[in-house]
Amino acid sequence: MYFLLVSLFIGILPSAYASVPRLLLVSFDGFRADYLKEYKLPHLQDFIKDGVLVEYVTNAFITKTFPNHYSIVTGLYEESHGIVANEMYDAATKKSFSQFNDTDPFWWNEAVPIWVTNQWQGNKISASAMWPGTDVKIHNSTPHFFMKYNSSVSFNERAENIIAWLNNSKPPVTFATLYWEEPDASGHKYGPEDTTNMSKVLQEVDNLVGLLVKKLKSSKLWEEINVIITSDHGMAQCAQDRLIKLDSCIERDRYMLIDKTPVAAILPHDEMYVYTMMKNCSPHMKAYLKEEIPDRYHYNHNQRIQPIILVADEGWTIVQNETLPRLGDHGYDDTLSSMHPFLAAHGPAFRKGYKQKTMCTVDIYPMMCHILGLTPQPNNGTLSHAKCLLADQWCIDVPEAIGIVIGVFMVLTTLTCLIIIMKNRTPSLRPFSRLQLQDDDDDPLIG
Ligand SMILES: *[C@@H]1O[C@H](CO)[C@@H](O)[C@H](O)[C@H]1NC(C)=O
Ligand SMILES: *[C@@H]1O[C@H](CO)[C@@H](O)[C@H](O)[C@H]1NC(C)=O
Ligand SMILES: *[C@@H]1O[C@H](CO)[C@@H](O)[C@H](O)[C@H]1NC(C)=O
Ligand SMILES: *[C@@H]1O[C@H](CO)[C@@H](O)[C@H](O)[C@H]1NC(C)=O
Ligand SMILES: *[C@@H]1O[C@H](CO)[C@@H](O)[C@H](O)[C@H]1NC(C)=O
Ligand SMILES: *[C@@H]1O[C@H](CO)[C@@H](O)[C@H](O)[C@H]1NC(C)=O
Ligand SMILES: [Zn+2]
Repeated sequence: MYFLLVSLFIGILPSAYASVPRLLLVSFDGFRADYLKEYKLPHLQDFIKDGVLVEYVTNAFITKTFPNHYSIVTGLYEESHGIVANEMYDAATKKSFSQFNDTDPFWWNEAVPIWVTNQWQGNKISASAMWPGTDVKIHNSTPHFFMKYNSSVSFNERAENIIAWLNNSKPPVTFATLYWEEPDASGHKYGPEDTTNMSKVLQEVDNLVGLLVKKLKSSKLWEEINVIITSDHGMAQCAQDRLIKLDSCIERDRYMLIDKTPVAAILPHDEMYVYTMMKNCSPHMKAYLKEEIPDRYHYNHNQRIQPIILVADEGWTIVQNETLPRLGDHGYDDTLSSMHPFLAAHGPAFRKGYKQKTMCTVDIYPMMCHILGLTPQPNNGTLSHAKCLLADQWCIDVPEAIGIVIGVFMVLTTLTCLIIIMKNRTPSLRPFSRLQLQDDDDDPLIG
């Protein structure tokens, strides 16, 4: 008995300590889901083999970098978190937002990102080696440890910082982010169909995954930390002969162009005139008045969404009169599979060797809150979409459930039949009748 108690204690104590849940969220910008199928990525595949994979993540419209990174960490559609584009204009305050001028909390305060919530709930802190918004004082706080955004800082330096910060114990860093600009930058430059150049870039990205895992292992963090590797969006091939030139449809002084392509945000002077001209501009572009934007985009209820938006078809580029700016682009309809990123995860919170076809970007947030034991802010995600990825959740998929139902039905039927047979036999069983029967049965043997 004493021995049992001691071994229970020894068993429980260290594991209770090690189970202070921690999570590192990594984004490789513009990592299109099917790169995983088309290219050899041995380090990433190793990571997945021992963890989980969501093959296609349905992201938020518009499928751009800032909006989707904020959806990942808030679980909100863009209309609800307020980062509705990489380029924004607020008519009421006359403020402008761009990737190069993004630190005014005004733009971010419509939501509370998970790194802030993590620091609000309990004695723990967050760290960030970059991620859109992490160097901004959102609701008056940044992550306890963070880096000012600087694209020239190497991946190695970002990872080194993260490892050092995760080693901080009082209070412990329980949530951390790590962001890298590739394969987005090269996807824009070469276009996803340039497989020669893209395979080189993706090999480099894969080596960075290997480097990160190696660092986590050598600092003894690997076994205890949960790591999510995901992305904000995919990439579509563009071409010189798929240009939509607004100047050939309407004079420039009729409107202000707030955001460009492939979803253009238009602030018109005369709304109906501009709308009519834009609507008839190209068969490869849709023009919507704000109130006509399809519900499925969840892209309407925010002042920062302009009165008219133009949405180019996959692979088409909207310009005023310029030549093709990029060979690859994203931002298009979020139902296009070329726009979808993937999600892979590894660690004690996740099952091992499990694959799932799809989930939504907004579902990542409730999953992360669950892992960290945080009470989530109101959000648009659904935890049950992620429950099969999680080690502590009971999960059955539909075919399995059907199998179980059929199995239970068969067992019940068999039992019912047995009971009926028994019941039918019971009344005929009078004292000794069974014995007589046995006697009868035994007769031939005796004989
Ligand atoms: C940066 O944005 C702020 C508002 O968010 C604005 O007041 C300021 O003029 C902008 N700066 C530039 C250089 O555009
Ligand atoms: C960005 O990082 C590079 C490389 O570490 C450094 O040389 C440069 O000074 C940094 N820029 C700013 C604005 O901090
Ligand atoms: C973690 O911190 C301990 C002491 O607090 C130190 O000895 C160790 O070298 C650190 N490890 C890393 C990877 O920074
Ligand atoms: C793509 O790769 C090829 C072969 O390595 C190279 O010649 C070409 O310059 C690359 N394209 C660009 C745009 O750099
Ligand atoms: C594009 O329009 C601007 C402004 O109207 C003009 O200055 C420029 O020459 C035009 N460029 C081309 C390539 O047509
Ligand atoms: C998304 O969540 C926010 C916050 O709870 C809510 O206000 C909004 O209506 C939700 N959007 C949708 C489409 O359900
Ligand atoms: Zn991006």
